[in-house]
Amino acid sequence: MSGKPKLWISRPLFPDVVEPLHEYFEVHAEAEERVLPPDALVSRLAGVEAAIVGLADRIDADVLAKAPSLRFVANLGVGYNNLDLDALSAAGVGASNTPDVLNETVADYAWALMLGAARRVSAAERWLRDGQWTSSRFDGWLGADVHGRTLGILGMGRIGQAIARRAIGFRTRVIYHNRSRLAPETEREYAASYVDKDTLLRESDHLILVLPFTPANRHAIGAAELARMKPGAILINIARGGIVDDAALAEALARGTIAGAALDVFEGEPAVHPALLELDNVLLSPHIASASRDTRRGMAALAVDNVLAAFGHGPHAGRPPT
Ligand code: DGY
Repeated sequence: MSGKPKLWISRPLFPDVVEPLHEYFEVHAEAEERVLPPDALVSRLAGVEAAIVGLADRIDADVLAKAPSLRFVANLGVGYNNLDLDALSAAGVGASNTPDVLNETVADYAWALMLGAARRVSAAERWLRDGQWTSSRFDGWLGADVHGRTLGILGMGRIGQAIARRAIGFRTRVIYHNRSRLAPETEREYAASYVDKDTLLRESDHLILVLPFTPANRHAIGAAELARMKPGAILINIARGGIVDDAALAEALARGTIAGAALDVFEGEPAVHPALLELDNVLLSPHIASASRDTRRGMAALAVDNVLAAFGHGPHAGRPPT
């Protein structure tokens, strides 16, 4: 026993970034990335006062009832739908997330998915690797343009705004829908127009979802919404699985209700709806929108600082990313 409070990290994290924790905590970190079932999670939290967790670690009333020593949970992510905030506050356990450090990186990735899906990059690469490139058809692999088209953004928080800013260089028209409308000067800055959800669905050539996952947003895009979109439209989900009804999307993609999709997040991730895996007009990636080297280090550093601050120690942020 070190006499220091015990801290548990639910996944391997950059050793140099977590290093400052060792001065104040007895640190236990998982050696492998894996989804822990609730009973394993509870056993890891025995005697633990602080935890750094990720989106696969669900901290709810049941877990908290069995983890009475827990005082603080730092979530590695801006989204925190894995944390039951009411249960945390009832148990007197503090919590933090990692906003802002990932905005630009996630916005880059939203554009990567949009461009990749519009120009069918991953399907074309699979075809090439499959040895099928024996001649080229002039009218083959035709995709959709992004420049000059209409980009719809559903959810216009900080990440949505970073996505909109990138549209200026592409001369892409931006429309958005959000719970609250942006200030007129912000709309002018991004040349973004506020529309109702129905107009957003009907007019977007490419529709990017950047909503937080809440019970109200579950299946915000389902069969009815997909039916209102343009037949040539492409849907991009970088927000959370569950915002889209993946079964309805797979059916819409198979029937040609919309032309394509790009998904970084899934309802039951890491499982992916099997019908999506069968389709060529959907680009799939394993929840990596924030996974640039610098940004993942920045998120880890912010989580470390949040834990240190919660226990009354000064911030260690500002370590240069590598
Ligand atoms: C977040 O921060 O919520 C991301 O989805 C994690 O990569």
